[in-house]
Amino acid sequence: MLEFQTLIDEHKEIYEVINKFKATQNSTNLFEILDRIKNLVNLLDKIINVHFASEEQIIFPKIKKQQDLINCVLDEHKEIQHQKDLLEELFNKYNTNPTNIAYEALTRQANSIADTLYNHAYAEDVTLFAFAGIELSQQEKEILAEELAKLSCRSNL
Ligand SMILES: [Fe+2]
Ligand SMILES: [Fe+2]
Repeated sequence: MLEFQTLIDEHKEIYEVINKFKATQNSTNLFEILDRIKNLVNLLDKIINVHFASEEQIIFPKIKKQQDLINCVLDEHKEIQHQKDLLEELFNKYNTNPTNIAYEALTRQANSIADTLYNHAYAEDVTLFAFAGIELSQQEKEILAEELAKLSCRSNL
């Protein structure tokens, strides 16, 4: 599975940021919770702009036999983008007017996108990358690994 190592490493970063956010679930430290949500927004910026772009431009076009699965993850990319826009909107709304209602809406949305992104990365790890590993030739895998390494966003996470 080394050919997808760059993307797998980026998924690890996704799990890490989400787990840190989830760890604040029962916290009463508002500053800490908002800080973790901010980290989630920053992660989403990089993931959408670099990681999703790598998948869409480099990996997906090379996989010919899993079109249904690819359509499904592409829909999830769009859904995550949509949810991220909403999260940013709620974050800004809360910062402008920090009411209890605004806080609840913000944390609900942060939880929702955290779950969606976590499940998305996990599904790619156990299905798409596994299928692609079977379908692609060794030479295709080597080219893929080089292309992915060039576009890695991990160092910026
Ligand atoms: Fe993806
Ligand atoms: Fe991914």
